[in-house]
Amino acid sequence: MAKDRLSFVCEACGQGYSKWQGQCTECSAWNTLAPGQRHDLTEAPTAAAGARAGRMASLAPASSLQALSDIAFEDMERQPTGIDEFDRVLGGGLVPGAVVLLGGDPGIGKSTLLLQAMASILKISAQQSVLYVSGEESAGQLAMRARRLGFDGPVSQQLKVLSETSLEKVLQAIELAQPNVLVADSIQTLYTEMASGAPGSVSQVREVGYQLTQWAKRTGNAVFIVGHVTKEGALAGPRLLEHMVDTVLYFEGDAQASFRVVRAVKNRFGTVNELGVFAMTERGLKAVTSPSAMFLSEAQLSGADTGRVHEPVSGTCVTVSLEGSRPLLVELQALVDDSQVPNPRRLAVGFDGQRLAMLLAILHRHAGIACFDQDVFVNAVGGVRIQETAADLAILVAVVSSLRNRPFAKGCVVFGEVGLTGEVRPAARGLDRLKEVARLGFNRAIVPAANAPKTGIKGIEIIGVRRLSEALAHIS
Ligand code: TYD
Ligand code: MG
Repeated sequence: MAKDRLSFVCEACGQGYSKWQGQCTECSAWNTLAPGQRHDLTEAPTAAAGARAGRMASLAPASSLQALSDIAFEDMERQPTGIDEFDRVLGGGLVPGAVVLLGGDPGIGKSTLLLQAMASILKISAQQSVLYVSGEESAGQLAMRARRLGFDGPVSQQLKVLSETSLEKVLQAIELAQPNVLVADSIQTLYTEMASGAPGSVSQVREVGYQLTQWAKRTGNAVFIVGHVTKEGALAGPRLLEHMVDTVLYFEGDAQASFRVVRAVKNRFGTVNELGVFAMTERGLKAVTSPSAMFLSEAQLSGADTGRVHEPVSGTCVTVSLEGSRPLLVELQALVDDSQVPNPRRLAVGFDGQRLAMLLAILHRHAGIACFDQDVFVNAVGGVRIQETAADLAILVAVVSSLRNRPFAKGCVVFGEVGLTGEVRPAARGLDRLKEVARLGFNRAIVPAANAPKTGIKGIEIIGVRRLSEALAHIS
């Protein structure tokens, strides 16, 4: 049978094509096709290809047919890294044999976080052996960073580092050092002779990822793989690696702001959408253990907290959003202004712009408030991204407050989803949200009626509403 000769490969998912096309039919990414050959289909049967055939076997060891109830298993023992915010996104700690992919923009702090995590693991238990492989920095640069982070004494003696880009040499070093935890920083700089292409190409990323994963599964040791994110915001070769590894973490944040957030997007050993919050300081990343008030502007914090008293301003509203298992208080700001253009602008920063358009239509139809001749801008303070519909009501309150130029009551929090018929729908875990609101010193909350607890919460006046119009009646 004639071999399929593929001459273009999608850089994102590895799908091969015989002709160039603008969009990859497999993963829908645009402009990702590059000249190249999918090695598993086109390569001549060399010794390397023969060896590869064995490695194309599944990552999980083969097992025979069994009833699920007959299978003996042990509860996974987790090794905490000792950095609580990081353990939280890992689902409680590192599981033996786990492969964790940490993605993020260059300079966001991936190397810093992992170096700190490794030092912390050694601090907890001197029996651990840790190897940090860097293909990006020299050993001298790593040592300088470690000094800056304040590592000294036994930790700096036990932390083994290797500056190397050849995977074969890395594997040799692993045999010698026998680490329990390995860091590969970054997958784009490592290359293997087993695959063709330049470091960072699809075939290299796939092969290096595969070999590191195999090592982890075979030996039961944990691996962290660092991956850079492409301009489009996806991990280079994301599909290739994401299905292979157990946990995918993204390091996000505003390069200008000092706050950084680690988010789990896939975790075979824990829940996803957990957040770990850090601040970048002069001496590395510091965990922010109570981040709930971090996305409020100073004006929203009570005078006692900041020592200053602010006049209430119009166009802002505080909501409480549930990111992972933790409620976060987020301030939403709106600016509604007479439009000078035929198509008034709608811009949402920090949440879905389509949803803003929908909410404005609901506002018109069910509360009689029109914005069709107004530009509407909405922003979530602090660079946070809100994915929850529970912020709907607060967005509309901020918009109405700006439109009428009337400040919304200070110390008041709003949440609830707004439906197309103008009803206010309950949010998940309303009680947890309200407790956090009370803890931070807010004294009033406008919430979906179904979320208002019958017994009330001390120190906070809770107003349950069923419809959008009812909620808006409370703000004028
Ligand atoms: P780094 O961990 O090298 O990023 P990545 O590995 O994701 O590319 O982080 C580099 C940035 O962090 C750099 O801009 C300097 C800053 N930084 C600090 O502010 N404080 C520190 O203690 C360290 C080590 C880095
Ligand atoms: Mg780095």
